[in-house]
Formats: sequence, structure tokens, C-alpha cells
Amino acid sequence: MKYGRFSEDGREYVIERPDTPRPWINYLCNRDGNYVSLLSANAGGYSFVGGPKDGRVTRWRYNSLPEDRPGRYIYLKSADDNDVWALSWQPTAKPVEHYRVRHGLGYTTFSCDYHDIEAEATYFVPLDDPLEIWSVSLTNTASTTQRLEVYPFAEMCLGHALVDLVNKPNDQHFNRLWFDQEANALCSTKTYWVTGDGSTNIQQNKAWDKVAFMTCSLRAESYAGEREVFFGAYRDEHNPVAIENGDLQNTPVSSGNIVSCLQHRIELQAGESIRFHVLLGAVDKADYELGVHALIDHYALPDGVASSLVTVKQYWQNFTSTVQVDTPSETMNRYLNTWNPYQGKVTFLISRNASYYHWGVTRGMGFRDSLQDTISVVMAEPELVRERILLLATYQRSDGVCAHCFHPVSGVAEFTGHKDDPLWLITATWYYLAETGDVSILDAPAPFHDGRDATLLAHLHASVRFIADNLGPNGIPTFGRGDWNDTLDFVGGEDGAGESVWVGMFYAYNLRLFADIAAALLNDNALAKELNAKRAGVTEALNEHAWDGEWYIRAACADGSKLGSSECEEGQIYLNPQTWSILSGVAGERGETALRSAAERLDTDFGPKLLAPAYHEVNDRIGLITRCVWGKKENGSIFNHTTTWAIMAECMLGHAERAIELYERLAPSSFDHERYQVEPYVYAQYTTSDEHETYGQGSHAWLSGTAAWMFRATLDHILGIRVTLEGLRIQPCVPEGWGEYTVVRRYRGTTYRIHVTKDGASEIPGALTVDGERVARDSALPLTGGEVSVMFSSGDVIARSSPS
Ligand code: GLC
Repeated sequence: MKYGRFSEDGREYVIERPDTPRPWINYLCNRDGNYVSLLSANAGGYSFVGGPKDGRVTRWRYNSLPEDRPGRYIYLKSADDNDVWALSWQPTAKPVEHYRVRHGLGYTTFSCDYHDIEAEATYFVPLDDPLEIWSVSLTNTASTTQRLEVYPFAEMCLGHALVDLVNKPNDQHFNRLWFDQEANALCSTKTYWVTGDGSTNIQQNKAWDKVAFMTCSLRAESYAGEREVFFGAYRDEHNPVAIENGDLQNTPVSSGNIVSCLQHRIELQAGESIRFHVLLGAVDKADYELGVHALIDHYALPDGVASSLVTVKQYWQNFTSTVQVDTPSETMNRYLNTWNPYQGKVTFLISRNASYYHWGVTRGMGFRDSLQDTISVVMAEPELVRERILLLATYQRSDGVCAHCFHPVSGVAEFTGHKDDPLWLITATWYYLAETGDVSILDAPAPFHDGRDATLLAHLHASVRFIADNLGPNGIPTFGRGDWNDTLDFVGGEDGAGESVWVGMFYAYNLRLFADIAAALLNDNALAKELNAKRAGVTEALNEHAWDGEWYIRAACADGSKLGSSECEEGQIYLNPQTWSILSGVAGERGETALRSAAERLDTDFGPKLLAPAYHEVNDRIGLITRCVWGKKENGSIFNHTTTWAIMAECMLGHAERAIELYERLAPSSFDHERYQVEPYVYAQYTTSDEHETYGQGSHAWLSGTAAWMFRATLDHILGIRVTLEGLRIQPCVPEGWGEYTVVRRYRGTTYRIHVTKDGASEIPGALTVDGERVARDSALPLTGGEVSVMFSSGDVIARSSPS
């Protein structure tokens, strides 16, 4: 069943059936993620400012049925026959015609025909102002005049989303809503605000620091503020009594659940159109009147809304222009040129904090997640990445332990001691340096969380020490509280003494990156030597103790048993140790065997499973993974994030056909969406494996490390436009059948136009030419600050991409 398609130019996903199997959403965000609005193809979703827990503007109904409630709706009503419908099909679900939702980069447009009214609304968030705009046009296609009522609607949360959820009966007493006549704006706020972790009874002695507002470029006839008055008893979004009666009752609220709804009356002659816009946002309380007035005035300018939308579109055009490819794979062109970098920026802004699966009230920004998210955004916005890496570094203590997650507004952070967290600082820093060459970041101040002064370089050392000082009896890092796989949380045992093979490999990988930085940028050969010696040590330990005969085990458990070994009945083989044995360089000759074992035992139609067989027995000495249903999430699903590493590993062994096959298999647009269910334009965290009856079902769309890593796997490893500390190098690993492809890549101020061909099509077989001059095949491309034309012909060497 098809619910939609990509537009001709691939820049929009056009949904043509309103009843998608799950809500298919978009993220509308400020450039820096301050104001964010999640918006489904039925106008469901929620908005926040600053952060989704502490700064929730509109409400989200957890565990609601229907799932996608509430939303930010535009209700329309015919004053001639009282028929009520919504421009987004839901929540009224009237049989609208020609329904279309176009999710684009930074905006979503709804359109439909009903009651002889052609309606269109584009929702977007401007680049820098804390609000969302709903820009609406209505055309009367009837041969007679129609009298209409228009009702923009949102249900408000106003501050701390978790308190709103668990303490609603009390929370209502602190809500205030009033209509500001002069501004034509419905304003609301809360007189107390919790910003800590506590959610229930702690009513802090401070107010929410924002005022939310809704206004429309049409003059409001009346407004509704109190939810119960608006909906009426035993009703919901689909039939609010106040709209039915055409009487919003002008209820200011000094206690109660708050909604924002405005009533407007218009009359349209036959063929006549009207354009208007709604603003919904939240400004600082300290100067809310000035703030609201300034925003209203700005967007009331003749071109205010239209030019702001153009700016958003230009921003994304520019953002995605950093990398543009033209390859024989339509899928690759579509994702690399548009949707993959777009998803990458969204994950960078939101981390794993707020989606339709992460509800923004508990976890906050993930530390390891956020560091991984930097590695794709760094191509287009290195300044933001620099800032982010330095911010994340301040969430590391001087003993190396990092906050596993934190809330950006309150700074509340949880220091769990996960073993991999600190090492991601090295990975992200290496990618930043390889992209920008900006070595000054290493000297930039970023105090440790316990207050000690430090530079970023000191953090990298702390990360290495954290592992080096905690090696287990076999010389492999101890498991501690856990590693990349959050659900292997009891492998380490009570005192964390088990050993993590994957962390060992990840450690080896980062030691190489750090040594690379030391040698190439710091001129510190002694440090490089020391790091390489550590690397040799852990490599030897892993090969001595972690090789199972056909593959690498996942861990040596605290109780003496193994995880991911042929000795195990369940969880016999894990994907990560096989792929990372290659990414880290630990495997040597064993890499081929390890990858082959993984392919033989883990492959499904939709990519390799994270492990197999999945756990059916709960084992409290392993942890949460065994409590999860088999075939989903970490318990053996096709976890897309890890497949990106498989693609990279295949490229490093020169398996071009296999790499592209995995790439194509993972493309969300290629699935049967009746089965897959979630969005076709972005990667999801996982697809259910063949060990569960919902095989092929996707889940956790949008916020996944897949976005950043898939971008790198495709660009650096398959297409072979590789970043190194010295500059770009060309090392393609593409299938036999590919004739040629081109890549335009902006890098350190130079724009490269790269043309890769097979030998037959090349004037100089097996050669690399730069602006017509032949250079050594492995040369770093020159930085000229202008345009450079690069020709690469593959030659007869087996393509193998290099590490990192
Ligand atoms: C989720 C988490 C990520 C973790 C992974 C495996 O994707 O966001 O941090 O590494 O699950 O547990």
C-alpha cells in the first residue's frame, strides 16, 4: 500500500493518504533548536522552547487513543450550514478531498478541498524567532458566497511537561490565561516552574520564565481559554462544543486546563481567496509585551511571513549543498542530497530527547548520542559542532566519568559511568579536526564538571585514563555500568568487573584516532607512541581472549561465562564485535571470517540483526536486553545504527557489492509500509527481525545514530570521499556495475567537483588528476579556497576504504 511518494526533485515527501499506519512526522526547528515543533501529517504533535521537559509550550497526551493527540489544528466551520472540518483531516476526520501533506525541509504544507473551500496551510518555524507560523490560504470554489468561521487551536502545557503529566490536578492552579486586546493575542503562563528532576510535589519558588501566545493576522472575534468549556463534557478534539455553538465564551483562566483557540469570521465571494497567518510561540516573561508586539509587527509586514519561509528554505538549500551527489543509485541520491543530512541536523538538535517515541520528559540529551550526531553536521555547520563538543566536554568529570544524559535548560545530569561515553569525545573531536583542520579546539577551555579547569585536550586524556586504569584480568576494559548497548546493563556484575570486548575495540579505535591527532597535529611523537603502545596491548588481549573460533565474543561476564559465544544458547553472536574488529583494526586476517560469520548468522531481508538468536529467557546477570521481547530493540532487532558500521566494515574489506546491497536494503522508502509502518523519508532506530511475528515493522523513526553514521558510511566509505587530518582523499568502494558518479563536496573553504569513473571511461586509467594534473592516487586533495576539479579512475586495484 502506498501512502505517498517523493516529489520529483526529492525535496518533499508527499503524503496522499491521510491515514498513514503511524503518525508520519516532521521537525520544524529554529536553526539552533531553541524552538521546536513536532508535526505529524495530521497536525498532531507538540512544541517546546529551550527543552522538551522544562520548556513545553503545548501539551502532548501520553498513551492517548488515537495516538496522535492533541495537535495544532485549524478548524473551519461553515456559518451557513454549521459543518465543521479541519484542514489536517484529523481531528474531525471529515471526508476531505485531494488531501496532500508535503513534508519538506523545515516546513510542512497541508492542503485539501471540502465544502467548496480549497484550503492550504504551511506550518514552519523561522530560523531564529521562538514561534511557529501557520500560513493559511482559503479559496471559495463555490458559485455562491460562503460565510466561514476559522478557529486555530492548541492545548497548552506551559513549562514542565512531567509535572503537567503527573501532577495535573494541582498544576492547574498555577495556570493563567488572558487576552491582550492591544496585541490581539491570547497569552498564557504558569506562576511556578519546576526545573529539577523531581516531578511531583516539589513546587519551587519561581515562575515559568515564558509567556506563551497565540495570535492571528485576522482580528479575533472571541477566544476560548478553558479546556473544559471549549470541549464540553464527554467530548474531545473531534467535536468541541464551543465550535459547534460558535461561542468561545471568552474565558480568561486563573485556574484550569488551558487551551488557546481564537474565533474569526470571514466571508468569501465566489472564487475569492484570503490569506492569513497564525503565530504560536513563547517569549521571555520579563518583557513579554514588547516581545509579542515586536514579533506580531514583524510578521505583519507585507512580506513578513513569505520572506521568512523563503529564508528557511534557503537555509536548508545551503545546508544540504555541502554535499551533492549524482550516482547510479536513485536511493543514494535522494538520501545523501536531502533527507540524510536533514535527519542528521534534527538528531543533532534534539539528540534522543523528544520524538513520538522519546517523550522528552525523562532522558534528556544523550551524551554518546550527541557526540555521534556531530559527525554529519560538522560538514555544514562546524561552528555549531565546535560549541557542542565543548559543551559536552563540560559534562565530563575529572575522573573521566561522563553524564550519560542531561537536560539542557536545567543542567540536570546523570553520571552513570558508562564505559564508552568518554571515548566518543575522541571520535567527535577527530571528525571535527578532519573536517575543519581547526586545531585550536584542543586548547579551548572546557572545565570538568567538578569545576577543575581543563582544555579539550585534557578531556581526551581523561577519557583514555578512564579506560586504561580500568582494565580487567584479561587486559580488556571492564564492563562497569555498561557500554554502547544500554541494555547489557548487568553483564559487569555488582562491581562492574566483567569485560566488554566491544569497548576494547572501541578503545583501540580511539587510541588510533588520538595517536593520529598527536602525530599529525600536535607534533607529539612521544604521545603518539604511548597511545599506540596501549593500542597494541589491548589488540593483543582481544585476540588472545575474545576470539571464539569463528567470531569475536561480546563480553566476558562477571560470573565467568561468555556473551556472544558459540557456547551460549541464546545471544550466540553479536554484530558489533565483528564490525568493530575491522573498524578498529583489531582483527587483522580474522576480519573476513568474523564478517562472514555475522552475515551467515545474522542476515535478514532488511539487514543484519544486532545478535542471534534473540533472548527468550530473562537473565538478570545480563540485564534488560533479556527482558525485552525477542526480535525488537536491542534484543536482536535489525538495529540500523549498527548496520551502518557493517557497511563501513564491508568497504574496508573491499566488499563493494555487499556494502551497497546492505545500503539499499536499509532504505526506508523501499519497504512495504503496511508492514514497516513508520516514515519512509528518514531512518528508524530498528526494524523488527524475523524472530518476531511483526517481522519488518519499523520503530523509533527519526532520532537514531543511523542518521549521522549512514551519511559517513555512504559518503566516506562507499563513494570514498574520505576525510583525513591531512585533507580529503579518494578511495571509492563501489560495485562493478557502477559506471561513473560525481560528488560536489565543500570542504575547508574549497569546493571539489569530483568525477569518479571506471577505467574504460577514463583518459588516464588508474589515475587521480587534480585540475588536469596527475598526482599520486592517495594524495590529499589540495586546499585552494576556490573550485577544484578532480578526476579519479578506479584502476584495477581492489578498493578498500581505510580505517576511521
Ligand atoms: C539507543 C540509544 C543509544 C544506544 C543504543 C543501544 O539508540 O539512544 O545511546 O547506544 O540505543 O542501546
